Amino acid sequence: MNYNQILREGEIFLKKNKINNSHLDVELILSKVVKRTREEIILNTNNKLKNTDIKKFKHYLLRRKKNEPIAYILGYKHFWKHKFLTNKSVLIPRPDTELVIEESLKFLPNGKSKKILDVGTGSGCIIISLIKERPKCTATAIDISLKAINVAKTNAKLHQLENKINFINIDIDKYKSYNYDLIISNPPYINSVEFNRLDDDIKFHEPKLALSGGSDGFRDLKKVIFKSKKLLKINGKLIIEIGHKQKNECMKMLNENKFYVNKLSKDLSGKDRCIVSTKLP
Ligand SMILES: C[S@@+](CC[C@H](N)C(=O)[O-])C[C@H]1O[C@@H](n2cnc3c(N)ncnc32)[C@H](O)[C@@H]1O
Repeated sequence: MNYNQILREGEIFLKKNKINNSHLDVELILSKVVKRTREEIILNTNNKLKNTDIKKFKHYLLRRKKNEPIAYILGYKHFWKHKFLTNKSVLIPRPDTELVIEESLKFLPNGKSKKILDVGTGSGCIIISLIKERPKCTATAIDISLKAINVAKTNAKLHQLENKINFINIDIDKYKSYNYDLIISNPPYINSVEFNRLDDDIKFHEPKLALSGGSDGFRDLKKVIFKSKKLLKINGKLIIEIGHKQKNECMKMLNENKFYVNKLSKDLSGKDRCIVSTKLP
């Protein structure tokens, strides 16, 4: 069997099983199996496959058939400018979260040392991307999930930042270290009604701990805002990702906790997604 034949058969199989993006997915799976880029595969469609590779391809295809996200099957996801290891212990980094990076960089002048905290670091994609851009900054990243912290540490190592970021397995409620210039967070913010409506890929495969913000979706946003008031320096910035219907409630909570709301940014589909705020004296 050659690349062309297995790609065609794979695509038909995934389509029959109602898997979206089947064309791209089979190319990515084949590229993992034969350890070649997608471009190399497309240019060499007559290449023959070894039997062991056909078996591996079928194994990954069956995982995809069961709605396992392609990022878990491949074991990585691109975010910002880098590649991050991903497995079922961490949320798959989303392009919308790059807004947090864009907004954060505006408050981190090149060459200056600022103290940053990432709350709910998951794969570590936000803090690692930021420290790659601003290596003079000092950084701590926390997560309630030990498995997530271990993935984040591995990612930091892959990006030669293992000595630059302090990873701690702790609940934000219990964290006590002060004087941060910047706190960033993409907390779980999906409410229980929306959680039940999520695609199977997400609902049955990504960690609930990373998605669900309790019945109203505000459980962790509240914690992050309340705690940041204590952990930030005066005039320090809090930059958080929110659900697109949470803007008004979040702005109210920020005002009640003595934050000034500087900016609301929209994501790639034009939805409110990120709030930049400043801790007032
Ligand atoms: C939406 S994910 C974000 C992961 C990553 N920062 C990203 O943007 O891809 C939220 C993360 O917060 C963590 N988390 C949930 N509750 C927490 C808490 N109370 N304290 C610290 N981390 C928490 C979860 O384990 C999860 O890794």
